[in-house]
Amino acid sequence: MKIIPCPSSPLLARRIAETTGMEIGEAIFRRFPDGELYVRVMEREGVVVGSINSNDDLIALIFALDVLDKAKAVVPYMGYARQDKVFQEGEAVSIKIVAEMLESRAEEVVTVNIHSNEAASHFKRLMNLDAMPLLGEYFAEKDVVMVSPDKGSVERVKIAAKHAGCEWDYMEKRRIDAETVEITPKSIDVEGKDVVIVDDIISTGGTVVEAAKILYRLGAKSVIAACVHAVLAENAAIKLFNAGIKDIVATDTIECAFSKISVAGLVAENI
Ligand code: R5P
Repeated sequence: MKIIPCPSSPLLARRIAETTGMEIGEAIFRRFPDGELYVRVMEREGVVVGSINSNDDLIALIFALDVLDKAKAVVPYMGYARQDKVFQEGEAVSIKIVAEMLESRAEEVVTVNIHSNEAASHFKRLMNLDAMPLLGEYFAEKDVVMVSPDKGSVERVKIAAKHAGCEWDYMEKRRIDAETVEITPKSIDVEGKDVVIVDDIISTGGTVVEAAKILYRLGAKSVIAACVHAVLAENAAIKLFNAGIKDIVATDTIECAFSKISVAGLVAENI
């Protein structure tokens, strides 16, 4: 099988190919004048690598999988996973639909830190890899304390901190609406410390900004934001830096300027 890189994950796909020794397959992704996507794959079998961080990403991935007779899908960032159930009557459960689209075309689906167990439960045979050890290793030997911005990420920060060899804690978060969160500290002593906020996703940055404000109020020396998936919607990076975040450290599940850690080895070991 060859690796077929989608436009959303060109570098990670190449890194996976180099690590596994697999070849890159031939494929064309382009756009018709009216904006529609055109996909052509000149292979019969392949491992299609493409994160879903937009509707175009999803269409490109599904079209490429559909061409193949035998396909695996590597979806490093599984978008649409936050709508993992019906919160309000009449809502589409997005990840359920995405799961059906992927699993009807791929014999196996591999992802990294899907947002929730609920989201994962919509797949029949999902391999959900954990990049938290890699985030932790990035900070090993650095004198930091790791903090989860909410209770939901406690298990994640625990794993990262174990691999970093540092202390960890969590903050309690209350979501007011889609864009506003209020956070209060648990039992953190961050005075004079370099703090790393660890989360699975940074999307609008609201969660990290609120956490950073509180950490600085508590006397933190510096605050860094670390995540697996740097969605960084709506100028989130600017928001983070304006809030005093000293650096953003992310993996390459979403390729961007902050992709300082690669999940290529992790994926390569599992395909
Ligand atoms: C929430 O459950 C997630 O772990 C993240 O904290 C959340 O998705 C971050 O979103 P935002 O950056 O928009 O606050």
